[in-house]
Amino acid sequence: MPNPVSNPPPNTTPNTMPKITYIEHDGTQHTLDAEIGASVMETALKGGVTGIVAECGGCCTCATCLVHVDEAWTDKVGSRSEEEEDQLDFAFDVRPNSRLSCQIKVTQELDGLVVHTPAYQGR
Ligand code: FES
Repeated sequence: MPNPVSNPPPNTTPNTMPKITYIEHDGTQHTLDAEIGASVMETALKGGVTGIVAECGGCCTCATCLVHVDEAWTDKVGSRSEEEEDQLDFAFDVRPNSRLSCQIKVTQELDGLVVHTPAYQGR
């Protein structure tokens, strides 16, 4: 009689978590393991990145989680939502590659993402 559990399905899940590197204004660098589905902001707070404040906790109402996405990653990260654009109208040091990190969801495709934090978070 064949053993019904002898052939488990192949594991197609990648066995590594995506890594995100945060480079702070003073040059301090943090490379963190990120959970898929978490935001880039949540990953930063969990990993002690002080350049991200995130006063509103990810509700897209404070703009204190601003990052500058490394030029090599801007296409993969995608574009801003209208709500995000509205917040960035009042943020400090906004550049064409600036995003609110609470609005970037971690996916496997973002493994290796590099973001830079500004000198100051606020309006
Ligand atoms: Fe407030 Fe991102 S955490 S806008």
